[in-house]
Parts: sequence; C-alpha cells; structure tokens
Amino acid sequence: MKGNNIPRAAEFIRNGGLVAFPTETVYGLGADAFNPQAVARIFEVKQRPSFDPLIVHIADFEQVYTLFSPPVSDWVEKLANAFWPGPLTIVHRKSPDVPDIVTSGLNTVAVRMPSHPIARRLIAMAGTPVAAPSANRFGQLSPTQPRHVLKQLTGFDYLLLNGYEMVGIESTVVSVEGNGCRLLRPGAITLQQLEAVVPCIQQKAESHDANLPSPGLLKSHYSPEKPLYILEEGMDISAPGAGFILHRHSMDSPADAKVFYTSQDYNFTEIAANLFIALHTMEEDGSVSRIYIEPVEETGLGVAIMDRVRKAAFRYR
Ligand code: TXA
Ligand code: MG
Repeated sequence: MKGNNIPRAAEFIRNGGLVAFPTETVYGLGADAFNPQAVARIFEVKQRPSFDPLIVHIADFEQVYTLFSPPVSDWVEKLANAFWPGPLTIVHRKSPDVPDIVTSGLNTVAVRMPSHPIARRLIAMAGTPVAAPSANRFGQLSPTQPRHVLKQLTGFDYLLLNGYEMVGIESTVVSVEGNGCRLLRPGAITLQQLEAVVPCIQQKAESHDANLPSPGLLKSHYSPEKPLYILEEGMDISAPGAGFILHRHSMDSPADAKVFYTSQDYNFTEIAANLFIALHTMEEDGSVSRIYIEPVEETGLGVAIMDRVRKAAFRYR
C-alpha cells in the first residue's frame, strides 16, 4: 500500500508494521524501535545481516533520554544544537531499554532527528522512536525515490510518497565517546561543518580495520547490478553498451553513448541529489551493460560523494 496518509502509516508503526518513508537524505524502512519483533522484520525484508545495526529516528530531543544511557555526553547537545533536525547521526552508549536487535548487540546506539517534514510527522504521530535503515536491499543502491524502494523491497506495509527535495546521500555518522568525537561515515554534513562545532573530531578509521568501529562500513556497498567503473585518464571506453554518469555538460563522452548528467556545472549539491537517481537509471537501462562515472574532487560534500562512488564501484576494480 502506498500514499500520503501519515496517520495511517503511523498506525502501522504503532502496531508493529513496517513503513517506507522519505527523509531528507534517502528513503528509510522504519519500525517501532522498542518492538524487537517489528525490527526483526526490517532485517528480513532488507536481507540485512544481523551484524549491521540500525539508526533510530526521533522527532523530539527529549527522546534522546529514552535511548542514550546517562550521563549523556555534552557533545550530544552541542551536535544536536548545531545539526538537528538534520542529516547527522550520533552514536552514544545505549540505554538498556533499547532492544539488542536494533544495535546488533553493541553497547551503543545510533540516533538522528530528521528534518524532512513527512519523516518528522510520521515519528511524532507514531509516538515512539523509529528504527530505520535505508530502504534498499542490503548492499544495493540507496533509494531516493518511491520507485527505487518498490524496485528492491517487498513485504512492508506502507510506502509514504514524497513531495520534497532530498540531499540524496545518507547522514554523516559521528560517535561520541568519553571526551571526544569520531567521524564514522562521511555524509550530508561535511567534516568542515563538524569541525566548526566539535574541533577535536577525529577522522574515521579505515574500513579495512579489523575492529570495525561501525559494522556497516563495508568496502563494497550501494552497488548497481552492473559493472561500475570510475573514469580515469586513458581508460578504454569505446566498447558498445557503455553508459556515462557525468557532472558537467562540458565533459565529453563517446557519440551515441547513454549519458546522465547529475549537474550542468559540477555543483556538489546537485551531484549528491542525483547520484543514486543516475545509478538507478543506468541500472535499469537495457542498452547499458557497463557504467562509467566521473570522479569528483574530495572536498566538502565531495568526500561523501566519492565514498559512495568507491563503494559502489568496489566489486569491479
Ligand atoms: O541518512 C541516513 O542515515 C539514512 C536515513 C534513512 O536516515 N539511514 C541509513 O541507515 O543510512 P543505514 O542502516 O543504511 O546505515 C546506518 C549506518 C551503518 O553504517 C551502521 O553500521 C551505522 O550506521 N551504525 C548504526 N548503529 C551504529 C552503532 N551503534 N555504532 C556504530 N555504527 C552504527
Ligand atoms: Mg544503507
């Protein structure tokens, strides 16, 4: 079932159902965070391994105290004041009330307060924090449109349609420990924005680290079902079936090739918003058998864009 009926969707959440809903980053697949059976269904529907913990979404700052264990670090309030509601996820020691299935047994929980009006109304009307990963099948492309969700998932109860623009890239994940903060996943909030609020923030550990600080940080993720290559100087791109994802109209591609421009003129906000749309479009295009994507400079939002591009391309290096 799909539509714009937020009260209906909230009722599904309250009754242990699953709702796919838009956030300002990507679509989420949500369930009542305090209902372990409902959360278990998220893992089934997504075919997500149980070692990968979920983000819990809240509508009101007070809900933090039902999820984080006291004493709640001062950094939480600092970060929340600066970036909530918005695309920042904060990882902090969890309250014993948070079901283990939400956190994959970790003693920390990831929480964020989205700014998207539909997400906020849904969570507020549900009257409970909503555990929600991105609404894609595990390892596949993230969804930024309702049809992306329908392409990958079945077995949920309600799909809320969108009418708002999206950032197009997942939230930035920061963990707050003792007296410091660490960037676990680059995302919609840039490192520069974070440094202005928490100057001591540490960069994320490499994802091949044996002790993953964030279990979902795998090297391969967000992948299309066709080979994806990052464009490099001198690459042979002449064979038929090549599709190109480019970020400026001035960039050339072979005549007659399929091309998706994410931006006219290399605007990072536009590139982020269109990145997964471009990848889904190429994945769906029957005339495209290989996808080539132009890299971007790794500054500002470009760091998160290239993080997603590298993970999407990893299998085909
Ligand atoms: O923008 C977003 O964050 C979207 C929307 C729906 O909110 N959600 C999203 O969820 O991207 P997901 O499940 O695709 O990614 C959650 C990330 C994973 O990398 C996971 O490992 C990490 O957050 N994470 C969750 N709980 C954690 C914890 N306790 N400690 C460390 N990392 C955690
Ligand atoms: Mg995801």
